[in-house]
Amino acid sequence: MSTLLVTGGAGFIGSNFVHLLVERTEHRVVVLDKLTYAGSYASLADLPPDRVCFVRGDICDASLVNDLVAVADAIVHFAAESHNDNSLANPRPFVETNIVGTYTLLEAARKHGTRFHHVSTDEVYGDLELDDPERFTETTPYHPSSPYSSTKAGSDLLVRAWVRSFGLRATISNCSNNYGPYQHVEKFIPRQITNVIDGVRPRLYGRGLNVRDWIHTEDHSAAVLTILERGAVGETYLIGADGERSNRDVVRTILEIMGEPADAYEHVADRPGHDLRYAIDSTKLRTELGWAPQYPDFRAGLEATVRWYRDNEPWWRPQKAAAEAKYARTGH
Ligand code: NAD
Ligand code: TYD
Repeated sequence: MSTLLVTGGAGFIGSNFVHLLVERTEHRVVVLDKLTYAGSYASLADLPPDRVCFVRGDICDASLVNDLVAVADAIVHFAAESHNDNSLANPRPFVETNIVGTYTLLEAARKHGTRFHHVSTDEVYGDLELDDPERFTETTPYHPSSPYSSTKAGSDLLVRAWVRSFGLRATISNCSNNYGPYQHVEKFIPRQITNVIDGVRPRLYGRGLNVRDWIHTEDHSAAVLTILERGAVGETYLIGADGERSNRDVVRTILEIMGEPADAYEHVADRPGHDLRYAIDSTKLRTELGWAPQYPDFRAGLEATVRWYRDNEPWWRPQKAAAEAKYARTGH
């Protein structure tokens, strides 16, 4: 049994990862999370206190980070500012958390010789044309578009430099778009599900033809655990589940599942610089480490996600009005 420091463990993917650690491993977990608007202690509330310890704090706080890293056997780094639309409105917290925060963790990991796993996104590679037969691989050049993806790209490059210059025992994963329980209502899928619950028509940016490569968040968590346990130090692994869908198809499927006409949605202003398509080739992770997605059926995963939002309104309701007010200001 060892102690894992999980940053951002009160966020969407981090909290799902902590649940998976409790269910599938013996590890003790220390969660470090600032509880920004995106973090929710309620996402961890049902977990056993003898397995999960929660620390509210900032990954940019070098003294706190040093104290926590000193007692950890490994760090799994999820904490980030994660929403593209917010990064267009105010990039500064993205630079601070994603770049300075990652730097702060890397320095503590270097000092204590701690194993480090960095969780990143496929958005560092920029976007693909709709008809491009290629998908992103570990050797695709970085070409980020937004303040969010460029700060994630910067954090990935810091990790690589700490591996090469200081021998840090680190791995990196770049995953495609996640969906599932505990995702903030500002994000595409939960926004539309909770809109339909509220009798509001889903909102599609632009023509709705942009493509995202969806993966169930539990598959992402299992992949991160696999890399932590069996990944080769210094390596990057792409995580994806062959889930390419246009935004319009996703909205139509949500409407069908929720018993509404499939065309009961609105088109709204497009996102500036909106990436057209993401697509992941996860052959390396599958062949070298033996990972495979357990939720290959996107529609079934969406049905379960719709059920979760219907059943857990007290979890998301407090965030909904503020998220929609933010969108109203930008015409979205
Ligand atoms: P999220 O916004 O739901 O959660 C982020 C968490 O980090 C929140 O709990 C927040 O309170 C915490 N946090 C933010 N700033 C902090 C700081 N300075 N110090 C400590 N904690 C802080 O994000 P998410 O969707 O769960 O994403 C988690 C990670 O996965 C991110 O690194 C993101 O780049 C990456 N990722 C996300 C997706 C996706 O589809 N959401 C896909 C691939 C990779
Ligand atoms: P999002 O969940 O913000 O993730 P990302 O920007 O990291 O891909 O958005 C997913 C896709 O959905 C993206 O193409 C933007 C689009 N989108 C809408 O069409 N309507 C919406 O209300 C939102 C929030 C996003």
